Amino acid sequence: MKVLIVYYSMFGHVHRMAQAVAEGVGRVRGAEAVLRRVPETLSAEILKKMGATEAQEAMSSVPVCSVEELASADAVIFGTPTRFGNMCGQMRQFLDATGQLWAKGALVGKVGSVFASSATQHGGQESTILSFHTTLLHQGFIIVGLPYTFQGQTRMDEITGCSPYGASTIAGGKGERMPSENELEAARFQGEHVATIAAKLKG
Ligand SMILES: Cc1cc2nc3c(=O)[nH]c(=O)nc-3n(C[C@H](O)[C@H](O)[C@H](O)COP(=O)(O)O)c2cc1C
Repeated sequence: MKVLIVYYSMFGHVHRMAQAVAEGVGRVRGAEAVLRRVPETLSAEILKKMGATEAQEAMSSVPVCSVEELASADAVIFGTPTRFGNMCGQMRQFLDATGQLWAKGALVGKVGSVFASSATQHGGQESTILSFHTTLLHQGFIIVGLPYTFQGQTRMDEITGCSPYGASTIAGGKGERMPSENELEAARFQGEHVATIAAKLKG
């Protein structure tokens, strides 16, 4: 059973969460986690101006996803940074290239799930994940979130991302905060949860 983890990350926060999602998928017997990045749409010059060159190099060993690859997966877990409360443009462009898959109903009945990152605590993690779900529903995905059985999302003793819609991390205004252990555990939980449900559906 193949669980694709498809993400975009500019400074490495979503990338770190994606690695934790993959660890969680790996907890389920027979489940293979496959990490993929969506294609970059910005030039190297722009990425340099944004201070993302080093992080991009660190992620360069992760292969770039093709849209056809989505059809070969039993479940797809998408990761995106928040851009004005929505998914990033790189992810939008990737999803807008899936029209052929939509026409064939190639993704209908697969498990779909989303995790996110934003700079600020209330900067749109939930709206990013929920608005992402709209596209998944058009494609016929069965949406899975982060149930409250992951109790780390209720904690009040530290600042943390995460909601019942999906795992998330708070990167800080300058990207200075990497995912906390609680947020990473949420990502692992989500990966395991999606893989468990996908395994049941596969029968
Ligand atoms: C154009 C743009 C728009 C952004 N919009 C938001 C936003 O609405 N809310 C927020 O909290 N952070 C926002 N951010 C910050 C990113 O979400 C943050 O850099 C990202 O979550 C870091 O994850 P990454 O390192 O994986 O890219 C924005 C960043 C950019 C470049």
